[in-house]
Parts: sequence; C-alpha cells; structure tokens
Amino acid sequence: SRRPETIMHRRLGTNTTAARTESTQRDENALSEETNGRKCLHTLLVERQEQAERSVLISCQSGATGKKFLKFLSKHGDIKKYFFYESYGFNAVVEFASRDGVASLLETTTIPTVNHESLVPFKSRLLSLRNLSSGDSNPSSGLQCQPQSTVPINELIQKLSQEESIDQQIISLTEEYQITDENSRLRFLVCSLLKDVAAAYFPECTIKPFGSSVNGFGKLGCDLDMFLDLDSISGWNVKMPKSGLFMEYRMKRTNSERAVTQSVLSVIGECLDHFGPGCVGVQKILNARCPLLRFVHQPSGFQCDLTANNRVAMKSTELLYLYGELDPRVRRLVFTVRCWARAHGITSSIPGAWISNFSLTVMVLFFLQKRNPPIIPTLDHLRELAGPADKSVIEGNDCTFVSDFTKIQLRRNTESVELLLNEFFEFYATFPFSRMSVNIRKGKEQNKPEVAPLHIQNPFETALNVSKNVNATQLERFVALCQESSWLLQQNEANAPKRGEAGGGRTPWGLSTLLLPSQVASIKSRKRRKREPASERIKSLLESLKNQSQRKSS
Ligand code: CTP
Ligand code: MG
Repeated sequence: SRRPETIMHRRLGTNTTAARTESTQRDENALSEETNGRKCLHTLLVERQEQAERSVLISCQSGATGKKFLKFLSKHGDIKKYFFYESYGFNAVVEFASRDGVASLLETTTIPTVNHESLVPFKSRLLSLRNLSSGDSNPSSGLQCQPQSTVPINELIQKLSQEESIDQQIISLTEEYQITDENSRLRFLVCSLLKDVAAAYFPECTIKPFGSSVNGFGKLGCDLDMFLDLDSISGWNVKMPKSGLFMEYRMKRTNSERAVTQSVLSVIGECLDHFGPGCVGVQKILNARCPLLRFVHQPSGFQCDLTANNRVAMKSTELLYLYGELDPRVRRLVFTVRCWARAHGITSSIPGAWISNFSLTVMVLFFLQKRNPPIIPTLDHLRELAGPADKSVIEGNDCTFVSDFTKIQLRRNTESVELLLNEFFEFYATFPFSRMSVNIRKGKEQNKPEVAPLHIQNPFETALNVSKNVNATQLERFVALCQESSWLLQQNEANAPKRGEAGGGRTPWGLSTLLLPSQVASIKSRKRRKREPASERIKSLLESLKNQSQRKSS
C-alpha cells in the first residue's frame, strides 16, 4: 500500500515569527486580573492565538481518524489537544505541544502535483490526509465529532420542554447555543491560517477575531469577524523621534487612513482569492463605512468578514466581554433574547432594516443597568474606575474603561433570570422609542439627538446610532412581539410543570412556547382583533377595497 501522506492544499508561507507579545505592562495587568478567577479578554486572546500557531487543520478524506492517525502525527511531536468535526467531510484540528511539531510535520508533507494549475510557492498549515488505513477495526470507532453548529430550533424547543423551571430552560438554552471550547479554537486557527496569507504582504501582521466570536455572546455557527492588525508595523501610537532613520515605505502617502485601509484590503482580497487555501467567494466591500472582505472559509465552514483598522470595534468587543463576565445572568438573558428574536424573524442573517444582534445586546445591557439595584454598571462608571494603563483614545473617541474586574463593585441584586426576561419584554413593550435613545454610557435614556425610529447610541463613537438601519416597521414588530411574549409568559406561569413531572413527551411550556413562531403569531392576531377599534378595522377595509379597485382599473 502507499505510504501515508499529508498533502498541502496550496503553498502558503508559514510565518514562524512568534506571536507578538504586547507590552509587559498589559501582561502584568492581565495576571492581576486572572487572580480573580476570570480572565480578561486580552489574556484569553494571547493564549488562544498562541495555541492556534501550534495547530494544523487536516481534512481526512478517507475517514481514517482513529489511533493510527494520531500515532502517525505524534511522530512529529507531542500532541496537546485534538478534535474532529464535520464540514465537507471529516476534519481534525491538531495542536502540537510546540511549534517544532508543526515544522516537522510540514517538512514531511507532500505538495501535490496538479496538472491544470500552476502552483504558487507558498506553504500552509491546511493539510489533507490521504490513504492512511485505519488502525481500528471500525474506522469511526471512538470518533466523536464536535458540533460546530447549534441544534435545530425544534430540537431545542423539545429539549427545553423537559426542564423543570424557566430559569433552568434559560441556562439550558445558553449551554446549547454558546460557542464551545473547540469552536473557539477553530476560530482562532482560521485567523492564524489567514494571517499566514496576509503575512506574504505584511510579515508582522496579526489577524484577530472580534465581535461575537470572542465577546462571550456568540452562538455556534455565527460569523467570524476579524481584523487585520498592522499596528506593530505602522508604528501607530509610537512617539516620533526628531532624528534617526525613517523607513521610506511606511511614508508612502495616501489621501486618508480610509484609503490606506481600502488598498490594504484590496491586495489581501486578491491574495485570498487567488492563493488563500479554502477561501471561496471572496467579495471586496470597500465602500462600506467600515471597508471589509467577505468570504467563506470552506474547511471550517465559517462565513468570514475581514476588516482592517477597526480598533473601536475591538474596544466594544472588550466591553461586551467584560459585561458578560460580571454576572452570569447577563449572558443568559442575551442568549435568550437573541434566540427569541431569531425565532420570530426580528433578526436575520441577511443585513437589512431589521435589528441586529449587536443592537439587541446593547438593549439588554441597558435594561440590566436600569434594574433597581442595577445588575451592571454604566460605561461612565467603568471609565471612572480606569487606571492609567487603561487609557485609550481612538480617532478622537474616548474608549477608556477599567480592565481590572476586581475594581468593579457590583450592587446586590438577586432577581431571577426568569423574572428579568419577563421584565425585559415589559420594559421594551412600553419604552418611549419615539422620544428617547438607549444609552449604556449613562445607563439612562436620553433625548433622541436625531430622527430615527430606533436610536441606540454607539458606546464609543457617541455621535453614531448603532441601529440607524432599523425602520419603523421593524421596530413596531419588535415592540408588538415584546407585548405578546410578556403576556404569554404570564399565562405560562400557571402552566409550569410540578416538581418531578418533567420527562419525555412534555408539551412545550415556558420558554419553549416563546420560541414557537405560530404560538406568538396566533395570540397576536387574536389580541389585535380584540384591541383594534372599529374605526381602525373599517379604515383597513376601505384601504383594501381601494387597492382592489385600483388593481382592476390598471
Ligand atoms: N460593531 C459596532 N457598531 C456597529 C456594529 C458592529 O461597534 N454598528 C462592532 C461590535 O463590536 C460587534 C462587532 O462590530 O460585536 C461585529 O459586528 P456584527 O458581526 O454585526 O455583530 P456580532 O456582535 O458579531 O453579532 P453576530 O453574531 O450577529 O455576528
Ligand atoms: Mg459578527
């Protein structure tokens, strides 16, 4: 039989420069934060990036993923962690104990000869395994694939119906939906693989995930938002000396920073499109407010958005992460509200006039600040607690807030998350959206500075409205759904299962009913018929008659 071989998909330069360690000041801060049992986002990012650099992604075409496969790989170095998942066949993520393991493996890896294509002399850590017979009697024995997407909503509804309390249903939903350890590793590995491609142009760059992949509010299957960080090269934030050597290539001038971002993304986009292993459907969206590249990374199945020069978004990611770490109810409520919104088409994976997950998250945070006593502090308070090392001003925006969790004193609030969910619906069912703006900096609604159906102040770029895209219809749908859901939840209280009654075959109750689109919709129409004054019904009848006659006459 043929000798086993791992094959490089395309040749892309493996960048062996160690992940850039940031200033020691920050690392020391991070250590003091860890003593509190919670890691600050910065520590987590550094740790995950470093693991990713020691990892390879292998597609196992033959399905031979048993003991023999691992034995074959461990010849190259100790394996610290591995797991399998399915995306266009079996794949494995293998993390070696050191980078030497990866280097040794790549040395023995064959670069395939392809007749109809000229190869570019780059190397990559995306490999495929061919013709390795399985060492096990049953090739898939002991092979457990880690899920990379959420269970279908119907399954979730069934699962939740078995729980004994709404609180437990909310915990269960959060556990089902949130990003797993393996999924997080895969996200960082994809960033690291893409960094290898971008490093062909910018050898010292890093690619960092942001948004829901790392802010603690991501669900399995969410997009992978990344940003290309060139700060170590561009000398951003570095004091300019009066004399000495200056590098000419850095001095190449363009009209604006935006133009630089656009041209950087443009070349990286070309590079990914032509040589990026596994990258398909690369679109350059360079005229957006925040220019980006959008593509699918096929071996991981991630829909990717790559931006550059997006430091404010990194700050809002840090802030959301911090809020999520402060109290377990924060994430639970956000997951529940996001899942509920998705089930009823309030949010969508397609961009449009609807409310985004980010907006919804900020709305939940605002609601939690408005509890009495508040569950989370305002952003202004977090800024007051900041130390000198936390100071951050980005493009004129003050993004300073405390990074040390131990400095944050929480007020004692013991409300259950079930109660909070109910109160959330009531809160937004009656919120004066027409006059007021949601503002987590102040933790208090503010007069709307501009006309927009829904105004949520961007926490850092305070002149911007996070939900500028939302139209009146979408806001109305949200408000109506809050009303229906609040009503439904109160009906359901009587319907809660008695202790010990939980078990197979239960009809949906509690949170499960809230996730059933038909249930909520039918209440809506029932209530509307009841509530609508006769004049309204006559008006709509006249309206439809008018439309009919117009259609006939045209
Ligand atoms: N962001 C922002 N202002 C906006 C939109 C986005 O600052 N108006 C930042 C936020 O940090 C957000 C990140 O960009 O988390 C990514 O945006 P997006 O992908 O829209 O939201 P996610 O939080 O990643 O949620 P999803 O799971 O829907 O992708
Ligand atoms: Mg996202």
